[in-house]
Amino acid sequence: MIIASNFKTNHTRASTCGYIEFVEEFIKKENISSDVYVFPPSTALMSSRSIFVGAQNAYPVESGSFTGEIALEQLREFGIKSVLIGHSERRHILKESQEFINSKFEFFKNNEFMITYCIGEPLEIRQKGLEEVLKYISFQLESIDVSYKNLIVAYEPVWAIGTGVSATMEDIKSTHCALKNIYGFKNLLYGGSVNLDNVASIVDIEGVDGVLIGTASWKKEHFCEILKKTNKLGGR
Ligand code: PGA
Repeated sequence: MIIASNFKTNHTRASTCGYIEFVEEFIKKENISSDVYVFPPSTALMSSRSIFVGAQNAYPVESGSFTGEIALEQLREFGIKSVLIGHSERRHILKESQEFINSKFEFFKNNEFMITYCIGEPLEIRQKGLEEVLKYISFQLESIDVSYKNLIVAYEPVWAIGTGVSATMEDIKSTHCALKNIYGFKNLLYGGSVNLDNVASIVDIEGVDGVLIGTASWKKEHFCEILKKTNKLGGR
């Protein structure tokens, strides 16, 4: 099981330190066997003994002239070996093109990063049914090496992110099973309004290997409760 927290633009360096320490202690005390990922903002990157701390974003170069960005050199300073690529907020709000996303994937793959690659459709596509959803997602995966050994894929329907409305159990199951069938993903997470109440049923769905959580993971106590609820559940 993989349980991941995406802080987005929340938490400071000080509060992230407190969060990581708290969760590390909890993992030890409660014998949590899941792989735990935390993606803090770039000002709060740090290394951890039992949590994979990853970057929410990074520019696909070693270093250079890309004002406002961080790249490999800055990640290396904190021992970061994991990155989130293709999140819907970067695709839709920050207007990242699929071409740019592909170049990030290639770069961080060549640097052997653990890549959490996000895919997912907008509401108008979901309303047309599963076939259209899979077609839409196929463009997001067209130039992506789906057999990359350090790949985690997060299926996150755009309309379910931060809205409090998660996809239905049936939609999650049919989409995950289809994606696994077509692409052979080993680590396929669901993301989009996962919370304390629905997380246990979501990780129990066939084809779900874990969850990527935003809003409901920002309080360390809530995230730990989620870790406890999902410990030793699901297929992995
Ligand atoms: P949410 O965000 O849990 O707040 O819906 C999920 C995500 O964006 O990864």
